Amino acid sequence: MHFELSEEQQMIRQAARDFAQNELKPGVIERDEHQKFPSEQVKSMGELGFLGMMVDPKYNGGGMDTVSYTLVMEELSKVDASASVVVSVNNSLVCYGLEKYGTEEQKEKYLKPLAAGEQIGAFCLSEPEAGSDATSQQTTAEDKGDYYLLNGTKNWITNGSTASTYLVIAQTHKELKHKGINAFIVEKGTPGFTVGPKENKLGIRGSDTHSLMFNDVKVPKENRIGEDGFGFKFAMKTLEGGRIGIAAQALGIAAGAYELALAYAKERKAFGKPIADHQAIAFKLADMATQIEAARLLVHKAAWLKDQGLSYTVEGSMAKLFASKVAMDVTVEAVQIHGGYGFVKEYHVERLMRDAKITQIYEGTSEIQKLVISRSVLA
Ligand code: CAA
Repeated sequence: MHFELSEEQQMIRQAARDFAQNELKPGVIERDEHQKFPSEQVKSMGELGFLGMMVDPKYNGGGMDTVSYTLVMEELSKVDASASVVVSVNNSLVCYGLEKYGTEEQKEKYLKPLAAGEQIGAFCLSEPEAGSDATSQQTTAEDKGDYYLLNGTKNWITNGSTASTYLVIAQTHKELKHKGINAFIVEKGTPGFTVGPKENKLGIRGSDTHSLMFNDVKVPKENRIGEDGFGFKFAMKTLEGGRIGIAAQALGIAAGAYELALAYAKERKAFGKPIADHQAIAFKLADMATQIEAARLLVHKAAWLKDQGLSYTVEGSMAKLFASKVAMDVTVEAVQIHGGYGFVKEYHVERLMRDAKITQIYEGTSEIQKLVISRSVLA
């Protein structure tokens, strides 16, 4: 067992760190304030290869491993979780799902531009009445012979208006319950497909979250992913990898807040010395550093398992459960260490604290992760 990163992994991490500091940090406060999607930055991330990192180079991907992907997610999320969620969804949910389960034609047509970062994708599972209970899909996909007719509404869709390619989960054979669910590739602009207004969110305000409406949308049969009825398994398998990405995002949010708090604690003086020299603050920093390191180990272990082709269902859920709790705890402490300054936007930590919360909610709430883990330990 060894814990060292390869030279290549260290280089990728450095590239992401530089990009985050030089390209994401300027303007991040304004984008958060005005809910502005980081369009230019996403374009640059595509050029850097961050949007299709793990995809085979023959489909325009970077051919990198999952550990490298978590390193990039951590570095980007230290600064801008609204930008990093685009990276996470595009890599883990959309590109992975298409590469692993798509046909050759689907990969040629849809995966290639997504992996090259020329387009971005969205993953559409959640519904007004089906969030955690994902088997209860109300969106229907009626089999009409050479096409499916899609009707229904999806909620909370990341990249909702900026995506070009949408992976949509819908019920085809209601009587078969989850075994009757399918996954489809739906193109933006297909008649009957409309995007609802942007959500006004607590955190990751720069990210583009919308509801989507499907009203008699014709989806060609060749756009179904996998066999008839494979849609629920497709969603579950894809989300397993997604959870590693979000765990890395949570880790990055925590680490970003910690780094700011550490620097501030060394500079800020109170009672005649830097506040870091007061044990009350020093012990907080020690706890934060320990929590972050533990989260990082879980994230890297889950990513490593995936890279080895081993099962990572439980480890991915553990990483997400733990790292998202660390993100909440550490960001709250980072605000506390900053005192009054922590409560104003210029110091960044209040944004990281708001951004942290979503990591306990999307791609499966903490309760869902506990469900997955407890089923495994009780089996
Ligand atoms: N891999 C493969 N198959 C799986 C699986 C997995 N990880 N998990 C479940 N399944 C299969 C089961 O084997 C079962 O199949 P069979 O009937 O053939 O045996 C089937 O799926 C149903 O499984 P369960 O009986 O366990 O279903 P359940 O309803 O009790 O629980 C759940 C499933 C784990 C709770 C699931 O519904 C779930 O993960 N819910 C959370 C959904 C979620 O994460 N939503 C996030 C939205 S996407 C998002 O946030 C993206 C974004 O924009 C950022």
